[in-house]
Amino acid sequence: MNKDVIIACDFGSAEETFGFLSHFDGDAVKPFLKIGMELYYAEGPDMVRQLKRRGHRIFLDLKLHDIPNTVRRTMRVLSGLDIDICNVHAAGTIDMMRAALEGLTRPDGTRPLLVAVTQLTSTSEERMQRELLVDASIDEAIAHYARNAREAGLDGVVCSPLEASLVKAACGPEFLAVTPGIRFADAASDDQVRITTPARAREIGSDFIVVGRPITAAADPHAAWLRCRNEFCPETL
Ligand code: C5P
Repeated sequence: MNKDVIIACDFGSAEETFGFLSHFDGDAVKPFLKIGMELYYAEGPDMVRQLKRRGHRIFLDLKLHDIPNTVRRTMRVLSGLDIDICNVHAAGTIDMMRAALEGLTRPDGTRPLLVAVTQLTSTSEERMQRELLVDASIDEAIAHYARNAREAGLDGVVCSPLEASLVKAACGPEFLAVTPGIRFADAASDDQVRITTPARAREIGSDFIVVGRPITAAADPHAAWLRCRNEFCPETL
């Protein structure tokens, strides 16, 4: 799959989302969108269907993390939506990730891509060690979680762009690195910790960058989207 920018639609309603998307009405190429918990819990699966009908590709970012049986059954429900990527937390164990993959696979053998969150990009090494009692460096923890995801048969992981080369080294070049934690060189980091720019994310090896506030809160969201694509995947322009 080609590199692309995924816009995180972290909005609380369909109205707000469609208002935001009006900035992209004139584009033949529809932006790849991420629907997260906020929008999905507010509007439900119909939001996904509507956005797919408008021609958007969708990363459904619900970060499932529960017992394997519950995750398998939930993924079976989500497999009925025509999404392109969805995810789980790698912390749910290899068994849980295998169950997710089973549930997601449709009777005809097709399925959306499935990736696992390693450590959230808002988590620092210090907090991971002190609060989560993970007795390893953040790089070791991420490489280990990525290897677990690969062993379970997943397509890749969600990690910081700074960790993309580490993930590729641990799991091979085809294993996807989907990376939030993107900020322009001249912008604030907000609550994100392990961050870098779109250009640097490309150099390190991200396959998809997930960009929220740098686009959604920009004075000109369309210009910010183009700036991201120009830095990260100029071949799509
Ligand atoms: O606004 P910002 O660019 O920080 O948005 C990043 C998006 O990526 C948010 O929707 C957040 O939930 C998501 N995300 C993340 N770190 C992860 C996984 C998902 O920031 N490890």
